[in-house]
Amino acid sequence: MKSISTFQRLKDNNEKIAMLTAYDYSTAQVLDKAEINGILVGDSLAMVALGYKDTYNISIDEMLIFVKAVARGAKNSFIIGDMPFMSYNLSLEQGLENACKMIKAGASAIKLEGCNEHILALVKRCVESGVPVLGHLGFTPQLMNTIGGYKIQGKTSDKIEQILASAQKLEEAGCFAIVLELMPEESAKYITENLRIPTIGIGAGKYCSGQIVVTDDILGKFTDFTPKFVKKYANLHDTVLNSIEAYKLEVKEEVFPSEKESFKLDEKERGKLKI
Ligand code: KIV
Repeated sequence: MKSISTFQRLKDNNEKIAMLTAYDYSTAQVLDKAEINGILVGDSLAMVALGYKDTYNISIDEMLIFVKAVARGAKNSFIIGDMPFMSYNLSLEQGLENACKMIKAGASAIKLEGCNEHILALVKRCVESGVPVLGHLGFTPQLMNTIGGYKIQGKTSDKIEQILASAQKLEEAGCFAIVLELMPEESAKYITENLRIPTIGIGAGKYCSGQIVVTDDILGKFTDFTPKFVKKYANLHDTVLNSIEAYKLEVKEEVFPSEKESFKLDEKERGKLKI
């Protein structure tokens, strides 16, 4: 599936939208095979793949390397490139130029965080120029310093109405869907029911039109911290650790490589070398 209309069709048919993140070629290949509804090359890769403590330290040029890798691996999927911190906030021209780089790198759409006059104008410009936009409201990691940390959003009726008003403006500006991050499930339900476009929840409960999580979290590969909303479907950290330890032991004990993993020199050549 390669089009934004699928997102709307799934919502209209009451079928949930299943999205995941990918940052590299081989993960993208697996997600593509599983026919996941959308792959986000999220700026969470700054923490998960590059080891930074937050998402502030990744540039558009670095993001493009990961978008290209994912695009090479997921040939049939709808790929969304996450616009990193300050790659779209300076001016409409800067935002549009960087959005265009994402599309040229292989993304089918971009994601932007927040909602203000600048973001709304940029969404309009992108959509008019042929760049679909996924919005992102609730907890927005790029605004963590102004929000005051990792906090659940939309906890009062006033705040929920504010988020809904922003979501409706983003819908009006042309977003094809909106990520709702970290809020009570009732808040996300209220917002979802008052929008035409789909909502994609992360830590926002079961009433959203779809879900997205960080793939490395649900596979138990990234273990620095695990938010409450993450369900682990595997424990790759332990699987990888056990395999690495087994490899190390076999090298030390000269079990690996065995004949099976080795190449043999021709008898005649061996004779010449006297080995
Ligand atoms: O960067 C990210 O991975 C995100 C989430 C919505 C998963 O923005």
